[in-house]
Amino acid sequence: MRHTERIEKTLISEERVQRRVAELGAEIARDFADHDTVHMIGVLKGAFVFMADLGRAVWKAGGPDVRYDFVRASTYGTAVKSAGEVAREVRVEMVPSKLDGKDVILVEDILDQGFTLARIRAFLLQECGARSVKLCVLLDKELAHPSAQVQAVRRELVPDYTGFRVPDRWVAGCGLDVAEEFRALPEVVVVREEFYRHG
Ligand code: IMP
Ligand code: MG
Repeated sequence: MRHTERIEKTLISEERVQRRVAELGAEIARDFADHDTVHMIGVLKGAFVFMADLGRAVWKAGGPDVRYDFVRASTYGTAVKSAGEVAREVRVEMVPSKLDGKDVILVEDILDQGFTLARIRAFLLQECGARSVKLCVLLDKELAHPSAQVQAVRRELVPDYTGFRVPDRWVAGCGLDVAEEFRALPEVVVVREEFYRHG
């Protein structure tokens, strides 16, 4: 069943998403022109749609061959953030194959409070031996009321490649879900949060 009544509005059309992904692919192809491969590491599940499109955009722009790996991050506690969160324990699963000395791009659907990406980036550098980690996010959320801790995390996590900046709402589509819905939507939408607030 399609819960279209749970969608408030389209935020970014399919055409705009595609155009921006093509631009990001061209930028990455340029930046990695002297590399043998572009090694992308996607955060499951949300990044898989964006990363597939991005890899093809790099290829179409004449960039190096693209290699894919994935990590999975699980968060302790609630799946949906609570207001004024100050810290979040994130566990990294599905460790990528050896990254010794490689320059990799960490690909994520959205940068929200930043706990997930901060943890994964540190993991790739410290545990997997990556030489450098660039950050590529489809969406960068402009947080309305970040705690001091979140502000500190975000200051250290400026993405190298950003698709779009989005307001502090629940968004979905292009791989992003709310309660597993809407990942297959080709556009980015704002979701009516009241449908997902229980208890
Ligand atoms: P962070 O650790 O607070 O940065 O959490 C980031 C993760 O939360 C992302 O990888 C997303 O999976 C998820 N997330 C944050 N905001 C949204 C949203 O608006 N829609 C869907 N998922 C989101
Ligand atoms: Mg995610």
